[in-house]
Amino acid sequence: MNAHEPWIAGALGDLDAAHLRRRLVVRPGAGGWVESGGRRLLNLASNDYLGLASHPHVIAEARRALETYGAGATAARLVCGHLPCHEELERRLAALKQCPAALVFASGFAANTGIVPALCGRDDHVFADRLVHASLLDGIRLSGATLHRFRHNDAGHLDDRLRKAPAKGRRLIVTESVFSMDGDLAPLADLADRADAHGAMLMVDEAHATGVYGPGGAGRSVELGLQGRVAVSMGTLSKALGSAGGFAAGTEMLRDWFLNRARSFIYSTGLPPAAVGAALGALDVLGREPEMGTELRRRATDFRKRLKDGGIDVGSGDSPIVPVPVGEPGRALALAARLETAGILAVAIRPPTVPPGTARLRLSLSLAHAPEDLSAAADAILAAMGTEM
Ligand SMILES: Cc1ncc(COP(=O)(O)O)c(C=O)c1O
Repeated sequence: MNAHEPWIAGALGDLDAAHLRRRLVVRPGAGGWVESGGRRLLNLASNDYLGLASHPHVIAEARRALETYGAGATAARLVCGHLPCHEELERRLAALKQCPAALVFASGFAANTGIVPALCGRDDHVFADRLVHASLLDGIRLSGATLHRFRHNDAGHLDDRLRKAPAKGRRLIVTESVFSMDGDLAPLADLADRADAHGAMLMVDEAHATGVYGPGGAGRSVELGLQGRVAVSMGTLSKALGSAGGFAAGTEMLRDWFLNRARSFIYSTGLPPAAVGAALGALDVLGREPEMGTELRRRATDFRKRLKDGGIDVGSGDSPIVPVPVGEPGRALALAARLETAGILAVAIRPPTVPPGTARLRLSLSLAHAPEDLSAAADAILAAMGTEM
């Protein structure tokens, strides 16, 4: 321990005592399974919803881009790191999202921390669902705008907040379309109505909807016909598309504004060619098999019903993110350990990722899982919950 580190040791000890200390565990895997401690576990923890991270075409396209353009973009996009593959990816993402333009960032996190401060500043107001992702909250903090939080998925409460906020300054409403930790769906049409009524921009984080909802995986804004009413459709390449990177889709002018004002875009090296190639490969696969998301949600509906029939409150909807509410972090860790013994990787999600008292297992399904493996997993989860209670 260095002389200046005792406070860190104390704080880590406090996290241990509260069952909130996080640790890295090496778990190589592919195709819906991982290896952990010499055992093979069904992976119900990844965001590789469509199994594309290990798809042969995705890997081949990543390799092709790597061999064509090299390992790195070598500079920020505005310097000399803007490659033909970036241009093509942005064109294809804009087409997927049915928007005129898109801009790719180094990650989804970077996209959110770049987009919000580019749209709002100290004199402005951001209205955010209480459960939005940490990257959006950090973007709001960076912007210096006043934050107004509204109750989760409550358009009426948003309306109230909009009405009571000062009239001066720009207004931005921020939500996820599929919530990352609960798997429930935002009432996007209602939020768009409130945005129109109060002269606010609407930004939708489609990290967990892209590839999974909407025609050909376009996301929920397109599914609901809200293109044009959603000012910024943000997404990631790191989840259903199996790669890495984030993006914003919207008008040409918005893209132009972000590449002039989003600091996480301007001052960061362009996305590596292999990641760009992988994302392009994933878009090829989705283009050929546009029903992948629908099939995944059909399997998720069956899986959810099994748990619900067994008395677990998995919430509503058909998303492949299935929360198993537990409550206290220690119980969530114990349940995850019991499932690991049963051959299932299901990570305990604890505060501050979720609000205090709402620790849970966050199960995520993938097309890479065989239906019979999901069925066996549902049995194992019900058994583990049964012995727990
Ligand atoms: C809702 C949401 N937005 C943004 C991000 C950040 O995306 P990325 O992992 O690509 O940085 C995540 C990922 O955890 C997320 O769940």
